[in-house]
Amino acid sequence: MSRISIHGEWSSRMAFILAATGSAVGLGNIWKFPYMAGQYGGGAFVITYLLCVIIICLPVMMAEVMLGKRGKSSPINSMQHLAEETKQSKLWVLLGWSGAIAGFLILSYYSVIAGWALAYVPELASGTFSAVKNMPSTEIAPFVDSIFNSLVENPVKLISWHTGFIIITMIMVAGGVKGGLERAVTFMMPALFIVLLVLVGYAMSTPDFMQGFHFMFNINFENLLYPNCNEQACELSGDGLLAAMGQAFFSLSLGMGSIMVYGAYLPKDASVSKVTTAVVFADTSVAILAGLIIFPIVFSNGLEPGAGVGLVFKTLPIAFGQMPFGTLFGTLFFVLLVLAALSSSISLIEPVVAWLVETGKFTRITASILSGMVVWLVGLTTVFSFNIWSEFKPLGGLNLFELIDYLTSNIMLPLSGLLIAIFVGWLMKKTIVAEELNSSSFSFGYRIWYFLLRYITPFGVSIVFLNAIGVFS
Ligand code: PHE
Repeated sequence: MSRISIHGEWSSRMAFILAATGSAVGLGNIWKFPYMAGQYGGGAFVITYLLCVIIICLPVMMAEVMLGKRGKSSPINSMQHLAEETKQSKLWVLLGWSGAIAGFLILSYYSVIAGWALAYVPELASGTFSAVKNMPSTEIAPFVDSIFNSLVENPVKLISWHTGFIIITMIMVAGGVKGGLERAVTFMMPALFIVLLVLVGYAMSTPDFMQGFHFMFNINFENLLYPNCNEQACELSGDGLLAAMGQAFFSLSLGMGSIMVYGAYLPKDASVSKVTTAVVFADTSVAILAGLIIFPIVFSNGLEPGAGVGLVFKTLPIAFGQMPFGTLFGTLFFVLLVLAALSSSISLIEPVVAWLVETGKFTRITASILSGMVVWLVGLTTVFSFNIWSEFKPLGGLNLFELIDYLTSNIMLPLSGLLIAIFVGWLMKKTIVAEELNSSSFSFGYRIWYFLLRYITPFGVSIVFLNAIGVFS
């Protein structure tokens, strides 16, 4: 039985690769990956992340695309069809729902951070950071700090940029699969890649390039396992491993329905394994490049690798302030970062918008406006987490922004990934799975994938979860 998508299809396999890469590459690679690697001690985090990407996430991504390709609708409706087809409990639809909720929650803070990037565009274009050229080195770090702080401490500024970003996202989503999504990503991904390469060139010219390099690739597991070390005590914690796995899911847009809904727009004859491998490769390269750019700048300017959420916003402007044509490159970089964030944010909301349209009660435009308004409202919690509510830490010493991030990246996404692995690996008919993947179930690649999905993914995710709640310590 084959269904067709009422939302249209990608015009080619390449269009899917670009859109899925657009979804995957975003703030997760350039903003989040470096600061998390910085907080969890560098190399050990990076290597754990890479392992999770290859042995856990790559198999899940193929499975998620396949589910979409078979279901041909929003993740909520796809899971409903597939549960019926597989004669499994109706409760599997919850996988679609949890993805939709995670998408809302992630976008609510994602658009605030993307708002920072938006705010940095005029800041760079006006040459604010050229001042670092003539500054004694001890004054550089306090200067970039003060610019960042004057932004995040001001709720009115943050709300304005957050609002602007949500409006642009909604206009693009309203444009539909071909008109809005596909057109947007075709030119911005290659452009972003080129600017990143220019920045790597700059980073290589800084005096501490090798120190940055070592920080990223020297594997010292103590930093990952004891992230809360201070002079008094070192506490063993599973948080670092959980954070690395959560980051792998987040960065690849997995476990949330984005990749599933994009799979639904894939033509029947596309090879799932090739397209997913291309996406994983592109996403991982961008994250590693971002790290290679940021850490040398951190060490060359006496900044702290563990500076947290502001890391990128405090390091890159220094580079742009010092390099030739820095104003031009800096402006271009933040414009591209905003575009990369946009191609991710449209994929965060697409599952919900597609579902609203499928109910038959909304047009794409009203569905986009409605969901945008809800996301905007929830996003205010993140806005206030950086200023008036920064001391409000309802659970585990985390403020509201940190809680939403923790809940979605570290729990909801990997948990959904685990359920996807179980559904596809254990419950769906092997012949259907192979047919949708356009592969023979006897081929070598298929057998490795199937083994990883059935055994390694569920085992890996469970171990990291159990470790995080302290079962092994
Ligand atoms: N992968 C995106 C990024 O790295 C974020 C994202 C997460 C997008 C989940 C869609 C789904 O920025």
